[in-house]
Amino acid sequence: ASIPKFVNQLVKPPVYKPFIVYNKVKNNGQFCMEEQHLYFVDLCEFEEQILPEGMPMTKVWGYGGVVIDQESGKQVYVQSSPGPTFQTIRGIAVLIKWQSQLVGAHPFAVDPTLHWANPNDMPMDPPKPWPPFPPGFGEAQAPIPVVTHLHGGEVSSLYDGHPDAWFTAGGKKGPAYVSTLYYYPNRQEPTTLWYHDHALGITRLNVYAGLSGFYLIREGDTCFRAKFNLPEGPYDIPIAIQDRSFNEDGSLFFPTEGDNPEIHPYWVPEFFGDTIMVNGKVWPNLNVERRQYRFRVLNGSNARFYHLRLSNGMNFVQIGTDGGYLNVPVELNSLLLAPAERADLLIDFSDVRPGTRIVMMNDANAPFPDGDEPDPDTVGQIMQFTVPDDSPPPVRPPRLPDRLNHIQRLRQDSPHRTLTLNEVLGPNGPVIILLNGQKWSAPLSERSAVGSTEEWVIANLTMDTHPIHLHLVQFQILNRQDFNMEEYQIRWEELNGIPPLDHPTIVLPVQPYLTGPPLPPDPNERGWKDTVRMNPNQVTRILVRFAPQDVPVGAVSPGENLYPFDPSVGPGYVWHCHIIDHEDNEMMRPYEVIS
Ligand code: C2O
Ligand code: CU
Repeated sequence: ASIPKFVNQLVKPPVYKPFIVYNKVKNNGQFCMEEQHLYFVDLCEFEEQILPEGMPMTKVWGYGGVVIDQESGKQVYVQSSPGPTFQTIRGIAVLIKWQSQLVGAHPFAVDPTLHWANPNDMPMDPPKPWPPFPPGFGEAQAPIPVVTHLHGGEVSSLYDGHPDAWFTAGGKKGPAYVSTLYYYPNRQEPTTLWYHDHALGITRLNVYAGLSGFYLIREGDTCFRAKFNLPEGPYDIPIAIQDRSFNEDGSLFFPTEGDNPEIHPYWVPEFFGDTIMVNGKVWPNLNVERRQYRFRVLNGSNARFYHLRLSNGMNFVQIGTDGGYLNVPVELNSLLLAPAERADLLIDFSDVRPGTRIVMMNDANAPFPDGDEPDPDTVGQIMQFTVPDDSPPPVRPPRLPDRLNHIQRLRQDSPHRTLTLNEVLGPNGPVIILLNGQKWSAPLSERSAVGSTEEWVIANLTMDTHPIHLHLVQFQILNRQDFNMEEYQIRWEELNGIPPLDHPTIVLPVQPYLTGPPLPPDPNERGWKDTVRMNPNQVTRILVRFAPQDVPVGAVSPGENLYPFDPSVGPGYVWHCHIIDHEDNEMMRPYEVIS
């Protein structure tokens, strides 16, 4: 049955209510009581009305916790997917107790041939042919490993949600497990982060089931907020765009047959849904007033890119990237977002005539950039804004300050790190996708000194754009540059062998293979990024500083406490592709911050 569009109304996820606690901390040798915000969050399964009213409910996973009810003003416990939003304040640390209530079996086909958060010590190389799902529905489906990562957060690796730090409702624990009580220092710049599951080799299934939500860091100082004059309250709306597919009974569909079933019975290289869900509702409508709105847009999809524009051709303004405000606002007519990227947007409806409907449209190919065009009747549309006939008079937006941020340009002070993105093809397409030709389990090769600034030079040897994400840090895009991918790859494989490799690689400099000039990042990429699109036939260079965002460049002295950039503790960090189907099949590597 086809699903009617713009019948659902957009829902703003509820906002968690913290418990305010005071913890004794040592500050400049003095003990003092510091305010911290404590949350108890359940990971749970429940039904939600994702499809329009009158159509079946959908079983999802999401998060449960205490929120303030909008109508009664009372504290209530709710479950929602995407999970409720953390509204946090810069400078006030957050503690979250992540509690899994996910008992029973996984609703989607867990592929035991991937390197995954395997709670049952099953062999990764089971007898073939692997039975079709659901008859193969067996050992791998239960219990359910989970671990939550705060994407874009400056977090100690003890609480980063390392892919091996998973646990199950029944008390099984992964090799890097530390605790279920996580500490987030919240010192970084105000921005839109998101939290999502990160269990090894099963992240795509857990996130698809619904394990994601927003985590906003707001500037505490009301003067600062008044100076910026940005829309607040009902006019400040986070928007998570996620593609889904549904079975006739309303349940979520995820593929149960791999493209190369002899190798990976269930894994597909990219999942693309045929339906668009925004904040847990299919193709919603939002009635807007004639005024300016702030939308914090997140691409929370497994693999789909979005190239967004408004059907009336109206421009909008981007004020922030993944990790904070841009230096200057950037006016846009369209916006490209890869999985996990965020854009902080201002859309001004004050000039729109009452009775107008505006559709947010998408024309990004899947896979990006050279895959299929989106169907204009389905995934070519995201949501609708309606200016009702009886709209109150327009409210003109206040003038934005010319300067929103003062981001220091990073300068490299350590050797380059040249790395590659590789794909291994099977009879029917990719069977494994790799960073630097190496598997997740190959010896650690990326070790970065605390306080240093490195330039990572990443050569994409595949046909697709990959959104590459580093944990812990917000970095800057230096440039992108065309290169001869085929020749580079031939020489690279002569040097290193055919991937997957289980040994460190010999670096092949990109210099002789470059074919064009360095291209600066797009104007709306010239801010803090934690996820960057790396295009085929290009080398992408990023500058990464392994120090907190709020510690000025040059202000680091040896031995200084750069918490949470603490080399001595925890399981370390990861960098990976945020097409989570890739991430789950080896396109992730560990990295460490060392002293
Ligand atoms: Cu959004 Cu390592 O993840
Ligand atoms: Cu990828």
